[in-house]
Amino acid sequence: MKILVLHGPNLNLLGTREPELYGRETLADVNAELQVLAGELGMELTTFQSNAEGSLVDAIQDARGVFDGILINPAAYTHTSIAIRDAISAVQLPVVEVHLSNIHAREEFRRHSYVAPIAVGQISGFGVNSYLLGLRAIFSHIKKGL
Ligand code: DQA
Repeated sequence: MKILVLHGPNLNLLGTREPELYGRETLADVNAELQVLAGELGMELTTFQSNAEGSLVDAIQDARGVFDGILINPAAYTHTSIAIRDAISAVQLPVVEVHLSNIHAREEFRRHSYVAPIAVGQISGFGVNSYLLGLRAIFSHIKKGL
């Protein structure tokens, strides 16, 4: 099972970016933890971060026929990007949306996600564990469909 992990804008700054909200682990730490879990589950992971909406759209488009699913933290594009949502709908791959912080307990503008209605589900508020729970969620979702 091959999974693409996408990290949206500003997540390259994890570790130093508002650590009270997003924790002290770096993006490299997050990816390393995901790789360990993927190894345990027998999955193959490719990780990619971009600050550019179009690059994330390109990565989603290119995932068709290559990956079995996508784990995505769209970061601020969660709340703004119809382009990312349309790309996900277009490739018809299962997607799990994750957030480090609980987006429903923050500012009003973060409560809406363009991705959530077309995702398998959303995991929000568990720090790095959101990603690990998200990986387990997409794993079992895809397994059920196999
Ligand atoms: C985030 C939440 C978003 O609202 C924010 O723009 C981010 C990170 C999270 O992981 O908690 O950049 O996606």
